[in-house]
Amino acid sequence: MSVARVCRLFCGFKGTSVTSRLCSSLSSDLLHSMHKKELWDNFYVQKQRDTIQNFDWFFNYRALSGLLHQCLHSSLQSDSSSDVFRILDLGCGISDVGLGLFQDLPEPVQVTCADISPVAISMMQQLVSTCSPMPKNSSSELRFVEMDCTRLDSFHSGLFNLILDKGTTDIFLRSAAGKPMAIQMLMEALRVLHPSGSFLQFSDEDPDARIPWLESSGVGRVKVNVQELTVQGASYYVYVINVK
Ligand SMILES: C[S@@+](CC[C@H](N)C(=O)[O-])C[C@H]1O[C@@H](n2cnc3c(N)ncnc32)[C@H](O)[C@@H]1O
Repeated sequence: MSVARVCRLFCGFKGTSVTSRLCSSLSSDLLHSMHKKELWDNFYVQKQRDTIQNFDWFFNYRALSGLLHQCLHSSLQSDSSSDVFRILDLGCGISDVGLGLFQDLPEPVQVTCADISPVAISMMQQLVSTCSPMPKNSSSELRFVEMDCTRLDSFHSGLFNLILDKGTTDIFLRSAAGKPMAIQMLMEALRVLHPSGSFLQFSDEDPDARIPWLESSGVGRVKVNVQELTVQGASYYVYVINVK
């Protein structure tokens, strides 16, 4: 993988001098450690020091909102029995996606943002308690939880209507040690996904690599559609995964 490719992954769109330094010093050791919790804790400690409140991989909520709303509405049509729409963001970091959905959606939603890094979770909890964002629907809820996304034991099967993963599977797939974690997270996501729900993976990995991986890891249980997203001239993909 070229350094330029890695830099795009690391810097997102809010590149600061800190992320630039990180890019220029990226070693293959670092690249192969991206599945490790300590790396992320350090990454978010640095963001905290730089007083950065939100940082998004690839792109932020604004770039995604149209697509997410479309996805939610088609899910709502196929499952009109749910009184509340449940959304899970796997490896949320300090992204603004969960917050954006909570504030924008007119339907009652329960948005759960999960990350293994206690630093990221406490930054988001602090942001929410300081800003007190208002939901469009007064019954909506937003929470940030420290959790290993390869073990979603605290959620029962079929709970979530929409599951999001922006960049999290990508970091697992970049190292040999992370690959089993990517499969474990996929299995857990499929377990907690409602039968009519969708699991969306946002990635810069090419469909030629990701689709066969998804199909073989989902052991024939999944149907995958891919859509290309161009944001600020860069191409990304959204893999829409449904249980067959
Ligand atoms: C590439 S970042 C993406 C962050 C966020 N989704 C975004 O779009 O900005 C990957 C995130 O996965 C989190 N992560 C790494 N391993 C994890 C695990 N086992 N369980 C939950 N989160 C994990 C990291 O702390 C980091 O926030």
